[in-house]
Amino acid sequence: MKTITLGNIGNNVPIIVIGCMRMTELDEKQAEQFVAEALEMGANYFDHADIYGRGICEQMFAKAIHMTPSVREKIFIQDKCGIVIGKKYDLSKDYILKCVDESLKRLNTDYLDMFLLHRPDALMEPEEIAEAFDILETSGRVRNFGVSNMRPSQIELLKKYVRQPLKVNQLQLSIMNASMVTNGMNANMSGQLALDRDGDVLNYCRLNDITIQAWSPFQSEQGVFLKNKNFPKLNTKIIEIAEKYQVSDTTIALAWIMRIPAKVQPVIGSMNIQRVKDCINAAKIRLTRDEWYQIYLAAGYMLP
Ligand SMILES: NC(=O)c1ccc[n+]([C@@H]2O[C@H](COP(=O)([O-])OP(=O)(O)OC[C@H]3O[C@@H](n4cnc5c(N)ncnc54)[C@H](OP(=O)(O)O)[C@@H]3O)[C@@H](O)[C@H]2O)c1
Repeated sequence: MKTITLGNIGNNVPIIVIGCMRMTELDEKQAEQFVAEALEMGANYFDHADIYGRGICEQMFAKAIHMTPSVREKIFIQDKCGIVIGKKYDLSKDYILKCVDESLKRLNTDYLDMFLLHRPDALMEPEEIAEAFDILETSGRVRNFGVSNMRPSQIELLKKYVRQPLKVNQLQLSIMNASMVTNGMNANMSGQLALDRDGDVLNYCRLNDITIQAWSPFQSEQGVFLKNKNFPKLNTKIIEIAEKYQVSDTTIALAWIMRIPAKVQPVIGSMNIQRVKDCINAAKIRLTRDEWYQIYLAAGYMLP
């Protein structure tokens, strides 16, 4: 498994992260087998959030992996909090501390390797977040910190108070959800693609050594875009390139994301071990410039 250095300091971790949001689709036995096979392939970085399955995904995972101190040492656990489903966002100090403790209990561990703020909370006070991070770090409950779905200015605001480096920004990114890529290429133009909705987050993260984790790498607004009849040109192009490399369409779709020179780390959600294998294979392929642009154009984007 190819590795990546998170935020350019410390932690050498797998380039592919296993997202655990959909773990409740498996029964206990299947989850045990899935986790064991993922580990065998070197996929030992797992992404959680307190809300996945309303806490059940964390519990299922701990059971499936047979969490013991020796197992714990061999894996990298990332967790998030801040979303109170259907009610509010909450990044207050007390809420963060409470959530981390509850997640640790469900995961049957004493520490998280990485903790992310799940979404910006309009009422967040960066001073309070800084206090929470200090408590979590000094007590040994969290080893590394990051954010998710945040713009550069929100990260800058946090950085004014937070001492720890923010090593990760987890963002939605797929061929069909690529505004952080398209707006850069349409700079200075008048069309929709020129709209910068993210504050040029792609270049900001590169400049500041923040690893971009791509969540939902196979999703579009109309579900998974692969083998989806709503995206005929895109699928024809992906299959043509997949045949050339003798790999699956899944591999090529992920290789497209990984060719973006920001060292993007995909967070995949598949609970199908063959697809996980296909995703890991993507790290072995470097698409040519022509192939990358052919896929870009087949997705319906225009070059200005
Ligand atoms: N930070 C955030 O706000 C945020 C938001 C959402 C998700 N996440 C994280 O990101 C992870 C991934 O999200 P996601 O599950 O939406 O991502 P995804 O990898 O784009 O989607 C996976 C889903 O697509 C299905 N699928 C169907 N055909 C596929 C194909 N050819 N290749 C790959 N998948 C295919 C999978 O089914 P099979 O299981 O049958 O393969 C699975 O249900 C989550 O687990 C979570 O950890 C973070």
